[in-house]
Amino acid sequence: MTKTLAPIQTARTYSITMTTPKKTITRPNGVKPFLKWVGGKSQLLPQLRDFYPRTFKRYFEPFLGGGAVFFDVKPKEAFLNDINTTLITAYKHVQKKPDDLVNLLRRLQDKYDRQSEEGRSALYYEIRSKYNDLSEGDLNKTAYLIFLNKTGYNGLYRESSSGGFNVPFGKYKNPAILDESNLLAVSNTLKGVSLNALSFEKAVAESRRGDFVYFDPPYYPLNGTAKFTNYHEKDFLEEEQVKLRDIFAELDRRGCFVMMSNSYTDFIGKLYRGFNKHTVLANRAVNCKAEGRGKVKEYVITNYKI
Ligand SMILES: C[S@@+](CC[C@H](N)C(=O)[O-])C[C@H]1O[C@@H](n2cnc3c(N)ncnc32)[C@H](O)[C@@H]1O
Repeated sequence: MTKTLAPIQTARTYSITMTTPKKTITRPNGVKPFLKWVGGKSQLLPQLRDFYPRTFKRYFEPFLGGGAVFFDVKPKEAFLNDINTTLITAYKHVQKKPDDLVNLLRRLQDKYDRQSEEGRSALYYEIRSKYNDLSEGDLNKTAYLIFLNKTGYNGLYRESSSGGFNVPFGKYKNPAILDESNLLAVSNTLKGVSLNALSFEKAVAESRRGDFVYFDPPYYPLNGTAKFTNYHEKDFLEEEQVKLRDIFAELDRRGCFVMMSNSYTDFIGKLYRGFNKHTVLANRAVNCKAEGRGKVKEYVITNYKI
């Protein structure tokens, strides 16, 4: 049941600022996500950087996905979380066993490179089926996840509740299944980082005054009708968005710096009345046809002034 909304106590000035896309993505930290992820923020980093708080204590990211913002911020102390347990196990493997993972991926890369086009497709489906049969925690499962992410259609992660991972082959010319230097840089960046597979509200329980919390939830749908294809996101509708707003307001009262990305919709605008709203422009597929790709406004909402 939806909880009654507590009034937001802090009086804040409503403001809208807008930034436009900058072409090149520079990565001053020299490290990037090791997985492509739907809703990934890499393309938006040049705009999102304008909205990070200047200084903060610890960093929390409860909807991690590919973690583009985390790798960009590269905080000293971080608490990362995603409800997808296979994803979080993969981060833990990269954190703790980078060399073993590099060896497994090198073998997969060699095998893939030696195949003809049909052979590559057959190999993809063979690995996909092995991936679905393996149990959580097996290092091979993480190697296969990375393989499937680099060679599958659009780097999608889609699972059905019964049939497991079901993304088709992606037909890329030269996919980098193994990017050794980046994987080692990721492993280094993850040293000492706390990784959890909880729901978002539990993931911020320990945040305190001065901490920076960045929320990148499944977006509220543009036309009010959800099109979530990911098993993990299918329940993220009005009720979850309201729960997230309540947590946002609670963290504001606690004195955290809170930043959130979401869709540019009336629903989200009204939900965050009283907080600072900014917009960025993202390249998104707005419908399934190629001509449907275009620049789409998205909200960045903060509880602090920029
Ligand atoms: C938009 S994606 C995040 C994209 C990410 N920032 C990036 O740059 O790749 C949203 C993520 O939220 C996760 N998620 C969905 N429901 C959740 C929940 N209740 N609690 C925590 N994570 C959740 C999904 O598994 C997904 O990885």
